[in-house]
Amino acid sequence: MTTISTKVESKDLNGLSLIAAHSHISGLGLDDNLQPKENAQGMVGQIKARKAAGVILKMIQAGKIAGRAVLVAGPPSTGKTAIAMGLSQSLGAEVPFTAIAGSEIFSLELSKTEALTQVFRKSIGIRIKEETEIIEGEVVEIQIDRSITGGHKQGKLTIKTTDMETIYELGNKMIEGLTKEKVLAGDVISIDKASGKITKLGKSFTRARDYDAMGPETKFVQCPEGELQKRKEAVHTVSLHEIDVINSRQQGFLALFSGDTGEIRAEVREQINTKVAEWKEEGKAEIIPGVLFIDEVHMLDIECFSFINRALEDDFAPIVIMATNRGISRTRGTNYKSPHGLPIDLLDRSIIIHTSSYSQDEIRTILSIRASEEEIELSADALALLTKIGQETSLRYASNLISVSQQIALKRRSNTVDLPDIKRAYTLFLDSDRSVQYLEEFSSQFIDDNGQVTIGEKKNDDKMETD
Ligand SMILES: Nc1ncnc2c1ncn2[C@@H]1O[C@H](COP(=O)(O)OP(=O)(O)OP(=O)(O)O)[C@@H](O)[C@H]1O
Ligand SMILES: [Mg+2]
Repeated sequence: MTTISTKVESKDLNGLSLIAAHSHISGLGLDDNLQPKENAQGMVGQIKARKAAGVILKMIQAGKIAGRAVLVAGPPSTGKTAIAMGLSQSLGAEVPFTAIAGSEIFSLELSKTEALTQVFRKSIGIRIKEETEIIEGEVVEIQIDRSITGGHKQGKLTIKTTDMETIYELGNKMIEGLTKEKVLAGDVISIDKASGKITKLGKSFTRARDYDAMGPETKFVQCPEGELQKRKEAVHTVSLHEIDVINSRQQGFLALFSGDTGEIRAEVREQINTKVAEWKEEGKAEIIPGVLFIDEVHMLDIECFSFINRALEDDFAPIVIMATNRGISRTRGTNYKSPHGLPIDLLDRSIIIHTSSYSQDEIRTILSIRASEEEIELSADALALLTKIGQETSLRYASNLISVSQQIALKRRSNTVDLPDIKRAYTLFLDSDRSVQYLEEFSSQFIDDNGQVTIGEKKNDDKMETD
């Protein structure tokens, strides 16, 4: 492989499912000094953890923290995932952010280490600077001759700057491009000479008077000066993983759309690493360490953890943020217990952020933010009861009741969710505590770990299959 391609047209849409419950969050809600505000960008309370996340945000932005691990630990529904999502949004689109749930690593198609390698490399951005040649000017005239059979097209494009004017012969591809972009005389356009990509920059000021019916969004620009052909520095950012995929198989970037990338050979990655390091030396590329967020990290096993330990020391390492709600628990794949179910050596490398339970006021505020995010109107009584439920069960359970209660309210043709709707929803859907209670009461009617179950009154001795 001598040349390495880095152009991708579109990015895959991974990890969308993690976001819906957090759609109200648009950042960490920090002020200019990175101090958390009580209620901003959809984020409420959890001040200490958000402050810590703010410090990490700053370090990531300064490129100082690659190769480190952060663990967000705390009880269920205390905003661990929410904080990671907020961090991702505060980072902006330039810094790669990959979110996965621990269990996603276990798939039939990829080995655990391959799956982890891919997500690690998805979290490293490479900003590539390239000189491109462009033609930029104001369109004077486009002339297209269609052949009678309709197949072959020919044409001419007259284009000018304030200093010169040239006529270019057009082939099929350029004609299609111009038609697709709806380029007309008077438009200022830019054509990438290598790819033939046409970009409309706006309408020329000199032609402003020629149009009397124009939308408010019409943009006017000056007719360019000087030469028609220019060299321009273009910058694009891709992830290491994207470079791997484009250069690894015949189907190239198409695999990015299907997500079916298969295993990528180690030698391909080595060549790419060498090339990227070279580009960095030459000042052609810049490496942007991004963030790999592994939610529910206790789902990983000991092999994954030791892989992470090693990968953190790699030249191209992102910052790894993990979240877990486990206390002292067994590390999968071993018989020993450790804090948060993480092996001690990985814990040792991690800085730990704790989240804690919410106060009544915070729960009320978060629930009302969720309701307005889902465009659901709650009466004051309904919100008060929901808050109480949130305190006694969990924030997530209360939050889930919002949309269920709305369905119940709609059934009695009301647009506002009121007290009885919440009560009804509460009796229809159990929270985990009541579910446990129920299980304890009726345990014999469920299939147990040994496949034993009692149907009706008598004990069933036949083993039933569980799946
Ligand atoms: N501080 C907060 N501000 C606004 N919304 C929050 C906050 N904390 C949590 N939420 C919302 O409450 C719900 C539950 O929080 P989240 O899923 O982040 O909990 P978690 O700590 O990841 O829980 P688990 O351990 O079960 O994964 C989500 O919808 C989340 O967006
Ligand atoms: Mg979570």
